[in-house]
Amino acid sequence: MSAAAALLRDHLLHRLSKGETHVLLRPGVFGRAAEPKRPEPKVEAPAAAREVLERPSLPAPTRVSQLTPTGSTNAEKIASLAAMAESWEAARQLGTLRQTMVFSVGDPNAKLMLIGEAPGVEEERQREPFVGPAGQKLTGILKAMGLERSQVYISNICKFRPAMDNQGSGNRAPTEPEMASCLPFVLTEIDVIRPQIIVALGATASKGLGIEGPVGRLRGKFHDFRGTPIMVTYHPSYILREEKMNGGMQAKRQVWEDMLQVMERLSMPISEKQRGFFKAK
Ligand code: URA
Repeated sequence: MSAAAALLRDHLLHRLSKGETHVLLRPGVFGRAAEPKRPEPKVEAPAAAREVLERPSLPAPTRVSQLTPTGSTNAEKIASLAAMAESWEAARQLGTLRQTMVFSVGDPNAKLMLIGEAPGVEEERQREPFVGPAGQKLTGILKAMGLERSQVYISNICKFRPAMDNQGSGNRAPTEPEMASCLPFVLTEIDVIRPQIIVALGATASKGLGIEGPVGRLRGKFHDFRGTPIMVTYHPSYILREEKMNGGMQAKRQVWEDMLQVMERLSMPISEKQRGFFKAK
């Protein structure tokens, strides 16, 4: 299969994962599709992911969320999904992800679900999402909202740390096929948890869910994700980078404004102090 055909197939599988079964072709679409936006490692959509994505017997909107967790409580269902993910061939077949599977953490009955990119070096070591520097920043944001990590559900769009040459402690964002290979888990987690609100941390996570665009354009308002309101905001590692460069006040204020909206939607109490955190003095 040519690179252009593989690209088109991946794109169509991605659209299919959002429940679209028909695509309108416009003149010139082939020319554009043949031009990759940015170089990504050459990886084919894995056969097992295709099998899930293409199952014709399933209704389109649910096609990729058809993992069937066992158990009767949410905690049991999430534990069964985590066990399934351990040997998920679709991800392992890619050969671009590392071996250790890092599932999610938190309350399986939470009202708030946060979705990040993929585990990094520290998450892989501890087998828990968001425990490295970005995780500590996220924990601080949650604390400022009046929430403990144990009161929310923290997930990643990709359950394995993306591999790199000379990896050391290096991390990278997951590619689209890497995210697609884990998407059935994320969608099933959402089905199980039924959060009132989802927060996508960064443009990679939102793209993996089919919401495309820069965070600067997506943030500040709720979008719909299969019936659940979703807020896209900056990834905590963006705040860390901005803090190093220029103190990060703008990034912190923007994330906090997004979180205030989340708190309002969840009918959480908001103190004057919380409202005023980043107000100009
Ligand atoms: N960044 C993420 O997006 N997820 C993690 O678990 C850690 C860092």
